[in-house]
Amino acid sequence: MKKRVLSGIQPTGSPHIGNYLGALKNWAKIQYDYDSIYCIVDLHAITVYQDPAELKSKILELAGMLLALGIDPKHSSLVVQSMVPQHAELAWMLTCVTPLGWLERMTQFKAKSETADSIGDGLLQYPVLMAADILLYQAHVVPVGDDQTQHLELARDIAQRFNSLYADTFTMPETRLPTVGARIMGLDDPEKKMSKSTTGAGHAISLLDDLKVIQKKIMRATTDSSPEVNFETMGAGVKNLLSIYQAFTEVSDDALRNEFSGLRYGDLKKKVAEAVVSALEPIQARYREITSDRSYVAKVLENGAERVTPAAADTVEKVKRAMGLYTRN
Ligand code: TYM
Repeated sequence: MKKRVLSGIQPTGSPHIGNYLGALKNWAKIQYDYDSIYCIVDLHAITVYQDPAELKSKILELAGMLLALGIDPKHSSLVVQSMVPQHAELAWMLTCVTPLGWLERMTQFKAKSETADSIGDGLLQYPVLMAADILLYQAHVVPVGDDQTQHLELARDIAQRFNSLYADTFTMPETRLPTVGARIMGLDDPEKKMSKSTTGAGHAISLLDDLKVIQKKIMRATTDSSPEVNFETMGAGVKNLLSIYQAFTEVSDDALRNEFSGLRYGDLKKKVAEAVVSALEPIQARYREITSDRSYVAKVLENGAERVTPAAADTVEKVKRAMGLYTRN
């Protein structure tokens, strides 16, 4: 039997090249080596207020994008988290074995709670729901960007705690980071991670940005005061542009050095822009084609939920038995 891969993305804002290079590109690439489940995590999205009039469209659009990126619905299950109620059910059971201190230590929670005026309990529970997504399907491998590694460690800690407190129930999931592109930084500020929630015209490149806009954003990206690429002394901005180029083109470290050493920043940016545009152009065309038939996308999501439900129900049943909750037989 093939091992299982699982990952998730929130339907908030439109996905950017950080999401793509950190995770989504890998999803499509490794899907055939595994029994693959990819989730659109709408229950995670609502930990921060979402406009109800827009959320459903965003879910369908994100599903369309994942299909455009090459997720093959005949092979992989594309699942909307809230369509499979066992995600929330397991999350509660896991909440009950998770010490509060573990959650308060999460850096994403600390960062978000420092900036918001008032924070909902959902934000604290966020990583438990994420652990539930993973453990529900007994996933072996979880392809994510670098910002999720702490959440993955927590998922393993929760699994271990449950297994030792009750019965050996959960598979230990392994984090899979890409070799290049695990942490793409903002183009306007290379000290900050590229993020959907950061506003600012020059911060992120959305996968659906107009191709001319993409070019402009890259040409305006923050670099440093040196005129040309020096691999020994380069700052975070140049490093980020080179990572973007290497992650898109998959050239080796040596080839990257040969191609870019001594190149002026203007030429570096032109090359990066060309690589990004030529990768995104066909993706955007596929996206337009796929989303022209919303009923097709909706059907893929129905099928996805249907396909994974037996595995989800099986785990919840095991957890109930292990905890001594009431089961029918
Ligand atoms: P989300 O929606 O923030 O991001 C989706 C994926 O994109 C990666 N990513 C990045 N990678 C490189 N550079 C960046 N600047 C960058 N920004 C985002 C993220 O690491 C992620 O892999 N909590 C998760 C969603 C989730 C999940 C799960 C993931 C819910 N349940 C179960 C794995 C398994 C999140 O908010 O991702």
